[in-house]
Amino acid sequence: MYETFSTLAGRFGAPYARKLAAASIRMAGAFESASPPPGLRRTVMGLSFPSPVGLAAGFDKRGTLYPALPGLGFGFAEIGSVIPRPEPGRSPGLMAVMQRLASYRAPRPIPLGVSISMNRATPLKQIPMDYLDCLQKLWRYADYITLNLGVRAGPDLHLPENRALLHVVFSAIKRERWALASMDGRRVPIAVKIDQGRGHTADLIDCVREHGFDGLILSGEGKGDKSARLAALERFANALWDEIPVISVGGIHTARDAQERLDAGAALLQVYTGMVQSGPGLVKSINAQLLANSVGYR
Ligand SMILES: Cc1cc2nc3c(=O)[nH]c(=O)nc-3n(C[C@H](O)[C@H](O)[C@H](O)COP(=O)(O)O)c2cc1C
Repeated sequence: MYETFSTLAGRFGAPYARKLAAASIRMAGAFESASPPPGLRRTVMGLSFPSPVGLAAGFDKRGTLYPALPGLGFGFAEIGSVIPRPEPGRSPGLMAVMQRLASYRAPRPIPLGVSISMNRATPLKQIPMDYLDCLQKLWRYADYITLNLGVRAGPDLHLPENRALLHVVFSAIKRERWALASMDGRRVPIAVKIDQGRGHTADLIDCVREHGFDGLILSGEGKGDKSARLAALERFANALWDEIPVISVGGIHTARDAQERLDAGAALLQVYTGMVQSGPGLVKSINAQLLANSVGYR
């Protein structure tokens, strides 16, 4: 069945392929209940992940697919990005996502990450409020929160001209997270997603470090060939070793890609396009291969 995926995806284009993948996740999730094989479990950011392979943000914007994901072998999922007010074609907005997440029963079978961001039309000065609004309302439903720094055709906190604003956002989030943790006694890890394709990665990582966040999601194909990208991942992961775990996303299409990222120092992985192209069976086959490789290493 999954072979037809790439054929249909090629013929009808990306939005159709995404819809097809989402429908097949729903369908397969209703019948399949294979959690990842034991042996892949790992602890990252203080959370226990049954597999290092997760769903990248943007695929399950509303949180509707989350219940089907554990049965397909996913070790975690990042829903969103959630933004305060609805934007057609982008997000149903904070209140709609909150309602959905409130309907999920605890304990959650796999860690649920919630990516938060800002509305396209938000004036720069109001951006910290967009993040705080999402953080305050989604905190209780999330196992971890991700700060998404950029919006296509909208504000972008990756840019050097927005560096002062980035510090304001990070400081506000840092203050608020302590207030929330002391109120409900639960510390929710916060990761920051940095798109290497937008440049200034090393500077941005310094900001993440300075503010004491818990994880770094390093995204983007980046420039250069595959070995250059792996070398960059290895360099950043080494520099952050024992301080901030790195989650790698972008261009993971096969079990081999996944293994290479882990070998380069990634603590966790996220897939998007690979799964749209190959179908959700990709995750199980990556899990099986990672397990076989780890047995081979012993
Ligand atoms: C249609 C589409 C929508 C996306 N929306 C988001 C989003 O809302 N938030 C986010 O952090 N990343 C978003 N992403 C980026 C993905 O999470 C991921 O970083 C990127 O697609 C690279 O991974 P891939 O090569 O496996 O696709 C989106 C990607 C696509 C293709």
